[in-house]
Amino acid sequence: MTKQFYIYTFGCQMNVYDSDRLRDALIHNGWTLSSTPDTADLVVLNTCSVREKATDKVFSELGRIKKKKKDTTKIAVIGCVAKESGKEIYRRAPYVDYVYGPQAWHLLLHNLAKDFRDIDVDTHGVDKFDELPMATDTAAAAFVSIQEGCNHFCTYCIVPFTRGREVSRPFDKVMDEVRHLVKLGAIEINFLGQNVNNYQDDNGKNLADLVRETAKLDNVQRIRFTTSYPTCLTDELIDLYRTEPKLIPFIYLPIQAGGDKTLKRMNRRYTRDQYFAIIDKLKAANPNIQVSSDFIVGFPGESDADFEDTLDAVRRVRPIQSFSFKYSKRPHTGAALLPDQIDPDVAQDRLEKLQTLLKDIQREFNESCVGQKIKVLVEHVGRDNPNIIICRSENMQTVVLPKDESLIGKIIEVEITKANTTTLKGQLC
Ligand code: SAH
Ligand code: SF4
Ligand code: F3S
Repeated sequence: MTKQFYIYTFGCQMNVYDSDRLRDALIHNGWTLSSTPDTADLVVLNTCSVREKATDKVFSELGRIKKKKKDTTKIAVIGCVAKESGKEIYRRAPYVDYVYGPQAWHLLLHNLAKDFRDIDVDTHGVDKFDELPMATDTAAAAFVSIQEGCNHFCTYCIVPFTRGREVSRPFDKVMDEVRHLVKLGAIEINFLGQNVNNYQDDNGKNLADLVRETAKLDNVQRIRFTTSYPTCLTDELIDLYRTEPKLIPFIYLPIQAGGDKTLKRMNRRYTRDQYFAIIDKLKAANPNIQVSSDFIVGFPGESDADFEDTLDAVRRVRPIQSFSFKYSKRPHTGAALLPDQIDPDVAQDRLEKLQTLLKDIQREFNESCVGQKIKVLVEHVGRDNPNIIICRSENMQTVVLPKDESLIGKIIEVEITKANTTTLKGQLC
């Protein structure tokens, strides 16, 4: 019988991408995917340490796996917790075999056959991408990581310490992967990076070059990129929202906080007015552009007035999607040393107020779509409800249609009949 593996994935899209690539590489090496961790010969946890809770989750999951696993099962902890905790993982969970940071997990492919434990939490830039076989299949919406790491050192954020400094993959290699995915059936390409709009390879090729080159491929119908840093959004990129119809009118552009004092203490390198000016420029390039944003409340020193500035910025920008979090103190980061940590109850109260406002805005936008005809990409059958198919609009809204599997992987026009905060209902036009 072939050996079986199971992968848990926590954290960002880049981790999802890494897990998919590891899955493909293991299958390429003769392994098969197990439907449960309990009987697998290898269990991999691809981890995230962006907030303290995310790290805790890994150790509680490890405890659960240990109770159920076979004696011979190997366990690998890879990703950002591996990098952050290193040998500490062996101390807290001595049954773990492999510990590989987010840029070293490809070593698992070399060392699985050998009977020893291994740890590597060094930074290896983008080397891993060269070690991986090309994907064997793809969804219609495909993801391509084009960058590792981040140089921004926002004072709350652990990513520069876990993913290392920013390194971009060579343009030609990215385009080889894009062409390969398109040959396999991808019609939407999503470029990924923590600071994706700052992509620049050693020959000076930038994200705008990647978008233009990808748009030349006939079968590609949609292009997008995640996550952008506000001040790295060049005029060249903004102009593409005017000139390149395949670039969907949606941008994930986290502001984090709406008050200048907090932004400064976070080491975000813009003011609220600069952020608003970027949004205005984007809307001038394409009035249909909608924005998604991230927010942190309860950052050290955040006063009631600072928090009001965040609410005010939300009313001004009206993001149609968002992620909002309570500040979480992370090791190595500048903010961990700041005085004036905020009372958890105050932070919780602010989070609830912010999320109520964000949800109202999202619902109002979704409701404004009722009666409209819009284009959606049909992605998959409903995971909880097999009688529906799940689609994405050009503004990245979730649109639900009655089941018709023949539509999966296609872009179709639908009429929106109903809407709530998270979902639109549609019918075929
Ligand atoms: N590179 C992206 C975001 C990376 S992390 C950017 O700069 O926008 C994803 C999100 O996690 C961040 O946008 C931020 O909102 C949140 N986050 C990061 N560190 C955090 C912390 N210490 N506490 C709470 N939220 C945090
Ligand atoms: Fe973290 Fe800031 Fe880099 Fe985003 S830009 S990954 S928040 S350091
Ligand atoms: Fe988490 Fe690492 Fe991504 S900390 S958000 S998995 S880069």
